[in-house]
Amino acid sequence: MGTSPLILTSFLLIHCLTLSSLLPTSSSIQISLGGKGTGISIGIGIGGPSPSSPSSPSSPSSSTPKPSDFQSCFLYKSYLVIQEFKKTVTCDPQGITKTWNGFDICGKYCGFYCEAPPGYDNKTGLAVASVDFNGNALTSEKFGVFVKNLTELALFHANSNNFSGYVPFLNNNPYFYELDLSNNKLKGPFPPNAIQPNLTFLDLRFNTHYGCVPPDVFSKLPFAIAIFLNNNKFSGDLPSNLGYSPVQYLSLANNFFTGPIPSSIGHAKNLLEVLFLNNTLSGCLPNEVGLLKKLVVFDASLNYITGPLPYSYGCLKNLEQLVLAHNLLYGEVPEDLCKLVYTGKLNLSLSYNYFTSLGPTCWTLIKQGNKRLDVRKNCIPWVPDQRSSEDCWWFAKKPKTCPWSSYTPCWGASSENTDSVSASDSEPVEAKMPVKGGASRLGRKSGYRTYGALDGSPVPRN
Ligand SMILES: *[C@@H]1O[C@H](CO)[C@@H](O)[C@H](O)[C@H]1NC(C)=O
Ligand SMILES: *[C@@H]1O[C@H](CO)[C@@H](O)[C@H](O)[C@H]1NC(C)=O
Ligand SMILES: *[C@@H]1O[C@H](CO)[C@@H](O)[C@H](O)[C@H]1NC(C)=O
Ligand SMILES: *[C@@H]1O[C@H](CO)[C@@H](O)[C@H](O)[C@H]1NC(C)=O
Ligand SMILES: *[C@@H]1O[C@H](CO)[C@@H](O)[C@H](O)[C@H]1NC(C)=O
Ligand SMILES: *[C@@H]1O[C@H](CO)[C@@H](O)[C@H](O)[C@H]1NC(C)=O
Repeated sequence: MGTSPLILTSFLLIHCLTLSSLLPTSSSIQISLGGKGTGISIGIGIGGPSPSSPSSPSSPSSSTPKPSDFQSCFLYKSYLVIQEFKKTVTCDPQGITKTWNGFDICGKYCGFYCEAPPGYDNKTGLAVASVDFNGNALTSEKFGVFVKNLTELALFHANSNNFSGYVPFLNNNPYFYELDLSNNKLKGPFPPNAIQPNLTFLDLRFNTHYGCVPPDVFSKLPFAIAIFLNNNKFSGDLPSNLGYSPVQYLSLANNFFTGPIPSSIGHAKNLLEVLFLNNTLSGCLPNEVGLLKKLVVFDASLNYITGPLPYSYGCLKNLEQLVLAHNLLYGEVPEDLCKLVYTGKLNLSLSYNYFTSLGPTCWTLIKQGNKRLDVRKNCIPWVPDQRSSEDCWWFAKKPKTCPWSSYTPCWGASSENTDSVSASDSEPVEAKMPVKGGASRLGRKSGYRTYGALDGSPVPRN
């Protein structure tokens, strides 16, 4: 985004050509067609066309191609679809469409990767299984028909292009499971066709969608692993069924959502990272978050959420980032959360709230000057850098309606949660694509997937 287009362009072009020259020319990428629920495990951007010299098109320009010119029927059909799409590309600053010539789609076309669908022979059934236009800056209004017509496609990754138009209904694409349209020019309401039952990965961040997010996003994507909707203009209350989604990574940050975080969130047992930050959420912080044993990142900072911080959050043994800064929270900072900071895993950011007291472990952390507990700009007596007494007085007088519950699901539980899931420890997340901008908002540089989604570049995946 801040990067000069020229530098980016040459980088990507080299990327497309050099990587491919290291690899065999045919279909050697690891995408699993129809694979679901196994994590985000695609070798994006790996493999691909061999360097082709643009001046020597491999097809005889005189004759129109026949099915027999191609390795498979699928590839012949895809050839026609690609040539149709090529005509709709009105801007191609990196010149990738110049490689879309001739019969060798799998070997020579930049952005196209082949594999046979399940049940097909890997030679005579070879098909276009993946399209990766990440960072290619192509302009087209017709990407929808293109994706729809590539009927064997499983993955469509088009981060940072200039695509506009409609998200297609992919009812004739039985293998399709990853849709990345992040950082494009999509507008209008949430695209209903983006809710396709087999999707595992849905990335619509950095577009200008507005209006409500339909509840179907959470109830009709039964295989969803990651849903990124951040940096749009979505508004309205969060659907109350949010917690019934099977997602592991959910980002709703930087929109205009209102209302409370739904208490159904307690059902989202797969959740590893969730970002609600920088919306206009209000209401009380739900106790039920304390049931999400696998949770690693919970960030609802920069909202108008109020109430006490429930004791139940102290049960979240895998939590690494609990960020609730810039809200209207009050009461006591739970001792159990400070213990999680003390034992070294948790980063607890509660600055710019109205907390008034701390437990003993919290005090120890303050005295140590431990930066993992941040309670600046609250109303805690004797702690440095708090709000003015006027501010605190003003807030104290306001009526408080949130219930206070000391219910702590892990207290008295016989089986301690010992399974340790850590997004950053167990899954090294290496960016394979050039990362524009690097660190995300607030200067956090991390391998967390959802924080990685806060800039416009592709989400790091392994
Ligand atoms: C792609 O689909 C559209 C509409 O569904 C159709 O009109 C068009 O002919 C198709 N193009 C190719 C090349 O298959
Ligand atoms: C594809 O076919 C080759 C031989 O034609 C075989 O060695 C290879 O194991 C096959 N790969 C898959 C994934 O079926
Ligand atoms: C994006 O597309 C619009 C038209 O759809 C065009 O006016 C604009 O110049 C394109 N932007 C870039 C960066 O190519
Ligand atoms: C979903 O996947 C199954 C096979 O895994 C396939 O039979 C079905 O057609 C797919 N559904 C859609 C809408 O593509
Ligand atoms: C919060 O979101 C608004 C608009 O959605 C954006 O303009 C602003 O920069 C964001 N703030 C931060 C701190 O990211
Ligand atoms: C904790 O979060 C703060 C604010 O987001 C950040 O500056 C700091 O680097 C984080 N510390 C760790 C250890 O992650």
